Amino acid sequence: MITSQKGTRDLLPPETRAWNGVERTAREVFSLYGFDEIRTPTFEATELFVRSVGEATDIVHKEMYTFTDRGGRSVTLRPENTAGVARAFVEHRLAQAGGVHRLYYVGPQFRYERPQKGRFREFRQIGAEVLGPADPATDAEVLVMLFDLLGRLGFTGLSVALNSVGTAECRPAYVEALQSFFASKEGSLDEDDRRRLAENPLRILDSKNPALQLLLADPGLPSMLDFLDEDSRGHHEELLALLTASRIPFRIEPRLVRGLDYYTRTVFEVTARGLGAQDALLGGGRYDRLVSDLGGPKTPGIGFAIGEDRLLDVLPAATRAAFLAEGAPQVAVVPLGAEDVAEGLAVAGELRRGGIRAELDTSAKGPGRGIKNALKKEIPLVVLLGEEERRKGTFVVKDLAASKQGEHLRARLLEVVGALVKPAPAT
Ligand code: HAM
Repeated sequence: MITSQKGTRDLLPPETRAWNGVERTAREVFSLYGFDEIRTPTFEATELFVRSVGEATDIVHKEMYTFTDRGGRSVTLRPENTAGVARAFVEHRLAQAGGVHRLYYVGPQFRYERPQKGRFREFRQIGAEVLGPADPATDAEVLVMLFDLLGRLGFTGLSVALNSVGTAECRPAYVEALQSFFASKEGSLDEDDRRRLAENPLRILDSKNPALQLLLADPGLPSMLDFLDEDSRGHHEELLALLTASRIPFRIEPRLVRGLDYYTRTVFEVTARGLGAQDALLGGGRYDRLVSDLGGPKTPGIGFAIGEDRLLDVLPAATRAAFLAEGAPQVAVVPLGAEDVAEGLAVAGELRRGGIRAELDTSAKGPGRGIKNALKKEIPLVVLLGEEERRKGTFVVKDLAASKQGEHLRARLLEVVGALVKPAPAT
């Protein structure tokens, strides 16, 4: 038997209904805020990720699916989507149209990580990016939209962890302070930490090395917030004021640097209980130099990506139940004999035109089997069509939950069945 690859999985029905419900809600919310969808390729030139996500990050250093194609090009399955969006923005000269570009995406990403709960090699993200404005009001609106979406999905009690990583101008002084803090503590550093400290010291704040955790909690650890230049500090403080005014729950997390190099100023993450060790539900931040670093005109940006697999893992039960119910068949139409099949097709068609989800069951060939099949598939109503009904111009409907049965005139099909179909619970 050929099985799926390690770290990948099949999403099967009815679980896919919950995924569709989440994606539909995200699309609805994004469109309320003026966002349009962008779809970029699943593989890109390797260099794109090296230059944007950063050479010294774990993603580029050890998690990319990189291969040489038959034409000798080095290509990489996208580990994230922001770089692809920025590449497309530059390639199609979207900046020339001016204004604000609000884009969202839904799709698979690939990272060669050790699979565990909530961590896959192929996973899906729902993300949004705003290109153009640099003001803190845009950061605030992105977070307002995010919490709007999470709220509509039924999440409560979440808060956003927030930090500023400053700009390329004010970071060197902070990096120096970090290096001198760790200089006397070489003994606690493992090989990866030493590489990080030399190549890209901010990355050391991401270290998962247990020996380093105590040091990272040391109150003497320098905080980026003490090194912000005046503009970055002003940006950060105005964002906090706007979030407070918008009632977005946040907390300052001075060690939050995120695992990608393109960030400037605002970075954020939302974690959720119930996710286990991989507790980041989503992450994002501002990237004011990414577009220009990729050869485009100076265009600030900010965005986030939700880990959809993790979101589904902790989706509130009522929301999941509502999404599952939305796609469930409502009526089984059972022709009792071969001569009743044409009538079955017509009845099912009429129900569907009336917006009722109807499954034709031609395998049953009898009321008992028809009811058994419906019970097994949790279909609450069965319409039985036999020779006698055809002669009389009627149909029989069985309400399996209420154990009730009735015979009605065929002309009243939609009216009768419509009244019996329970309205899907509101989300
Ligand atoms: P990221 O933090 O690398 O950011 O990923 C965002 C989210 O994707 C994570 O919080 C997590 O929920 C999910 N995720 C990451 N890796 C895995 C995995 N192996 N298995 C399952 N879920 C995973 C980014 O990707 C940035 N592009 C976000 C962004 C957009 N920043 C600005 N704009």
